[in-house]
Amino acid sequence: DIGENASPSFIMVVGGLGYIGSHTVLELLKADYNVLVIDDLSNSYESVLHRIQTLAAEHCAMLNKPMPALQFQQLDYRSPMMRSVLASYSSYSICSKPVAVSTMPFPYSALQRTDSGIDMEPEDTPEQTLQRQSRITGVIHFAAYKSVEESIRMPLKYYMNNVCGMVEFLGLLEEFGIKNFVFSSSATVYGEGANCGAPLREELCVHHHETFIDSDGFERQATPGVMGLTSPYGRSKFMCESILADIARSDASWSITALRYFNPVGCHESGLLGEDPRQKPSNLIPVIATVLTGAKPVLDIFGTDWNTPDGTAVRDFIHVVDLAQGHIAALAASAAGRVKAPFRAYNLGTGRGHTVREVHESLQSTSGRAIPVREVGRRAGDVGFCVAEVQRAETELAWKAQKTLRDCSVDVWNFTKGRCPVPDEMET
Ligand code: NAD
Ligand code: WQD
Repeated sequence: DIGENASPSFIMVVGGLGYIGSHTVLELLKADYNVLVIDDLSNSYESVLHRIQTLAAEHCAMLNKPMPALQFQQLDYRSPMMRSVLASYSSYSICSKPVAVSTMPFPYSALQRTDSGIDMEPEDTPEQTLQRQSRITGVIHFAAYKSVEESIRMPLKYYMNNVCGMVEFLGLLEEFGIKNFVFSSSATVYGEGANCGAPLREELCVHHHETFIDSDGFERQATPGVMGLTSPYGRSKFMCESILADIARSDASWSITALRYFNPVGCHESGLLGEDPRQKPSNLIPVIATVLTGAKPVLDIFGTDWNTPDGTAVRDFIHVVDLAQGHIAALAASAAGRVKAPFRAYNLGTGRGHTVREVHESLQSTSGRAIPVREVGRRAGDVGFCVAEVQRAETELAWKAQKTLRDCSVDVWNFTKGRCPVPDEMET
């Protein structure tokens, strides 16, 4: 438990010590939100918490403003202990007659924190109801497993954490009246539809109940379609979005935003936060970093025969700090009533594509190191093109990515160089 100026409301960030979560927690603190982080450290380290704290404290000191609270519970978000955590962030008042949805009649299953710190069941008083008010005003849900390859080998592991975990968690949130939810989705929900070769509009992913304005100007309900999703990981995100859309459709008091990240890259400019997974990396830039550090001899380029300017695949690489700020924009838009539907999906990308070769060249020139490559065949399940249409996020969230591929490379090199051999130890 870090931070002294605990004030009433908190944003709960689940999976908040991971790659995207850690950058988002920092941006939340910079924007004066108090933050409660839940993370089981299955793919992150507790040291990240202290790095976030250091950077946030520096920022607040520079602006001469108080540091918001940063609290942490090391917990699997599927654990029964989550109920007590939520109970400890709730206040209770006795009402003589039933009121709102967040009211639970006695006997009452949730635990109540007493002055002695021991969780107690409130007394049974049949004529009265206990109204609870959560100090958690929004949830950002990052906790998930994310390896496409592992999800193919171990689908149950992925469905249990990413889908079943989220469903149980939503039930708990509903019980506590917490209905402001930001979900980490992915461009993977466009599946093979991404190969259309044009920037992807949100309504192209048609599983849920959004309406959209068709080219003839009429409002239409999106029709379900086959997305060609290529992995259980991708399907888990698609399923989560569908479930969230159903929940919002059934109860318009939810405000749910699904943020579809394109290819998050880069790290905080200080070099203190970055992508530091326990799992072996498989994404392009983390793999390039392992070649730079010498842990891997060569970068395999998967496919040089795509229909793209240089034959390698095109992706929309978005700097993780821009991405983190997209979450703050989503919370602000939801609070200001600018998110028009109780469920709304937004692409978070730059709208610009770069090829794999361009990324390789960018890191090579930024680092001044040779990064050997080997051209190999396409990786199973890959698409040749995946770039965001960004208009919806710009208009409704008032958010736009600012940083370039060059900024990403500079920050990745800053984060990586301390672990790289000095140049004369390297073959160039
Ligand atoms: P990450 O693995 O770095 O972070 C996830 C965090 O959640 C980790 O700290 C992990 O320890 C924690 N976690 C996982 N399961 C948990 C559980 N059951 N209980 C508590 N904590 C748990 O991943 P990331 O790259 O930061 O991704 C965050 C989210 O964004 C994920 O949902 C991921 O699917 C999604 N996403 C990531 C990318 C990407 O390329 N990184 C792209 C699109 C979407
Ligand atoms: C980018 C390009 C590879 C590694 C994945 C998930 C997606 C999302 C982001 C979570 C591709 C090529 C890569 C390498 C290479 N994650 N590449 N050599 O596949 O676009 O998206 O991460 O939601 O769901 O699918 O990202 O970084 O793995 O690959 O040539 O060693 O780089 O073939 O064309 P991808 P990536």
